[in-house]
Amino acid sequence: MLKKWLLICFLLLQLMPVCFANKPDSVYLVSYTTGKNNNTNGLHFARSHDLTRWESIGNEFTFLWSDYGRWGTQKKMISPYVILGKNGEWQCVWQLNEQDRAFAHASSNDLVYWGRQSYPVLNKGVNCLQPIIWYNASADNYTVVYKSNDGKYYAVSTTDFKSYTPAAEVAPAAYNDESITAIIDGVTVKGQMHKVAWAVVQKLNQTFEASSFKRTENSETTVQDAQRFAGLKPVDVKMSLLPSKTKAISDMLLGIFFEDINYAADGGLYAELIQNRDFEYSLADKEGNDTAWNSTNSWSVKGTGTAFTIDSVSPVHKNNLHYAVLKTVTTGAALTNTGFDGINVKKGDQYNCSLFVKRNIGRGNLLIKLVGNNNVVLSEAVVNASTSSWKKISVVLTSSAEAKDAYIALQPLSAGSLSLDMISLFPKNTFKARPNGLRVDLAQTIADIHPRFVRFPGGCVAHGDGLGNIYRWKNTIGPLESRKPQRNLWGYHQSAGLGYFEYFRFCEDIGAEPVPVLAAGVPCQNSAVGGGGQQGGIPMNEMDEYVQDILDLVEYANGDVTTTWGKQRAAAGHPKPFNLKYIGIGNEDLITDIFEERYTMILHAMKQQHPEITVIGTVGPNAEGTDYEEGWKLADKLAIAAVDEHYYQSPGWFINNQSFYDKYDRSKSKVYLGEYAAHLPGRPSNIETALAEALYLTALERNGDVVTMSSYAPLLAKEGHTQWKPDLIYFDNTEVKTTTDYEVQKLFGQNSGNEYLPAEVIISSSQDAVKKRIATSIVRDTKTGDVIVKMINLLPVATTVTIDFKGINIANTSAIKTVLAGKPADTNSRRVVSSINIGQTFTASLADYSFTVVRIKTRE
Ligand code: AHR
Repeated sequence: MLKKWLLICFLLLQLMPVCFANKPDSVYLVSYTTGKNNNTNGLHFARSHDLTRWESIGNEFTFLWSDYGRWGTQKKMISPYVILGKNGEWQCVWQLNEQDRAFAHASSNDLVYWGRQSYPVLNKGVNCLQPIIWYNASADNYTVVYKSNDGKYYAVSTTDFKSYTPAAEVAPAAYNDESITAIIDGVTVKGQMHKVAWAVVQKLNQTFEASSFKRTENSETTVQDAQRFAGLKPVDVKMSLLPSKTKAISDMLLGIFFEDINYAADGGLYAELIQNRDFEYSLADKEGNDTAWNSTNSWSVKGTGTAFTIDSVSPVHKNNLHYAVLKTVTTGAALTNTGFDGINVKKGDQYNCSLFVKRNIGRGNLLIKLVGNNNVVLSEAVVNASTSSWKKISVVLTSSAEAKDAYIALQPLSAGSLSLDMISLFPKNTFKARPNGLRVDLAQTIADIHPRFVRFPGGCVAHGDGLGNIYRWKNTIGPLESRKPQRNLWGYHQSAGLGYFEYFRFCEDIGAEPVPVLAAGVPCQNSAVGGGGQQGGIPMNEMDEYVQDILDLVEYANGDVTTTWGKQRAAAGHPKPFNLKYIGIGNEDLITDIFEERYTMILHAMKQQHPEITVIGTVGPNAEGTDYEEGWKLADKLAIAAVDEHYYQSPGWFINNQSFYDKYDRSKSKVYLGEYAAHLPGRPSNIETALAEALYLTALERNGDVVTMSSYAPLLAKEGHTQWKPDLIYFDNTEVKTTTDYEVQKLFGQNSGNEYLPAEVIISSSQDAVKKRIATSIVRDTKTGDVIVKMINLLPVATTVTIDFKGINIANTSAIKTVLAGKPADTNSRRVVSSINIGQTFTASLADYSFTVVRIKTRE
């Protein structure tokens, strides 16, 4: 055998010089794109030794994507032009689309990692087509020349790609395009040719190979388990505590992320039962794609003799311009609203009905009816509607029966003209009996998670689609009629009824820290509106005001009742401060110079004025890539307390990346994993996704000294109105439908600790894939003294775990065991709880595909 190996080694040694001898010093590269997928495939490279035969690196592997504008319609890279510029730095410019008068730029030292993108807006031409770039060594600057649909050519110059000279018209001859054509796999492409060292190509190849390897790993699912683990015998795990290595971990690790997506707020958690109560639905909410989405949406007149129109001449409040006008010739008809998919009422329950009313012509009363199945009147009240100026009227309606599809009807009892606005129907029974409060079952389901914090109001809702859509907290407080409703970028309407006051109050009600997230002076990186997508940024001359808004929020939450904003909080019924400690600035933004300038300004102001508040930064929407790298560089530079990381990944990714935070530098910013979820094809929430998340959460506990907070996303989704899947909790008007992933969040939330107890873990199998599918974590809650063991078995075979609780005195102690188990595709598995007795050494049998939590009492 030894001889055989020696022979093989010898032969390999003989071959090596040949391989090296065949390796060229340099090679030709062409940089190009294909136009495929509506020009969204980004930048590729092909290599050649002889300028004749070209081979695409990684079969059109993308080394640079365009980040400009909205997914689906933008993110295009048209005719990229790459040059090797000053100091060995590669520069790439490209056309963004057919209409914008802007181009894109990015640079790289190695053609692999491309830095921040910028999209300089130009002042000449009608658009910017096929930009080319060159470096003038004598002037030490770069010139970009572009074509425009006005038939002219224009040029701009720059030394730093941050500021440019104004565009000037140039002669067509100045457009010196040095592109070549190359035939790759029989297809002719146009691109720029570069002669590069072999090492450059090697790195490109390695990048592609590493990416392919990761893609294969990440696509592992339980579907291949039968094959992957064929013949696998039950596995044994021995654990022995290492008491000397006990470390403190965050007691804020598990929180929730609330965003008004999937009708989570209006029609969801916010208990209002009337849809479009303010008559402010507008075509713009749905970008004009739904002609029925206007001020009359959800309202109609039943009966004849009354005409219903919308007016805006003398509104209740300037922030709520539209209102209904009922002109009654003969009585009998009523203005009706069916709520959000019907109004769900219960027998004997009381409902607060309020509305603003103004009589334009005549005198008389208004009959308000709650109408159920088969047009049975469930409750009614007559109110005086003779007021000549806007007046708020309130009545209580008690439903005589249960109905899922009830509607409200407002019937003028005399001829004339009547204006109505802010027509509201609210269950009296809200969470913690709060006025303008929350739906009890949903709020309770959230509270049951025991979240340590609530992040709100987004997500993308926080930074909005374009500058005009940035969520402004001041628009969401005060009397409901004075709040400013706005378009929800998820394609519907935000009434702002669930506003900052209500968010703070909910946090207080469930004992969670509020974590408001505010835009960093830039809108969503996928914005379609204004200023070249997200790159516009709030103009710098308006930034002082914007920064002041953020400072004012701290005063609103924490200020004394004598302060301007503290007074407003008190007026809303909460003189006591909300004790705000955290603020997030930015949400997975594109990290550009525009972002940095604004973010830095906000951070400095916060550090100066409110050093007591922890400001959380953002590092983009992925666990790698330019925004992640640039976001972290900025966090280091500005010494940001914590950064918000986001990643939606496959279960395979979570399984294969459990060590993600093990390597994080403990001296740097802390991490808030603000959005994550395991996504399988078809986006189900099942045992497989839930266990992958549970397994990853044990890794977060292990790293709870650096990962201080985490929240699954998104939280809520109303059936029939879902823009994003999967979500943690689904619901309709009558039912709350939690997921297996919710069970996992709840188990971690209810069983968190503030000390991590490391253990030596020995797994009987040497197979890496097996080891990665068993995860354990032991924490202690020092308040109760309870020790909590979490064990995940993501294998198709049973696993036996034996734990030696060395260093902890556990003598015949009682414990609660909770198990969540099922087949990988099961969507309805629920926890099974039992009481057990436990000794100094404990053995647990973990069923295949299961999550077990054992909570051990160590104190009387
Ligand atoms: O959670 C849904 C969305 O995902 C959030 O709004 C956004 O931040 C992320 O892209």
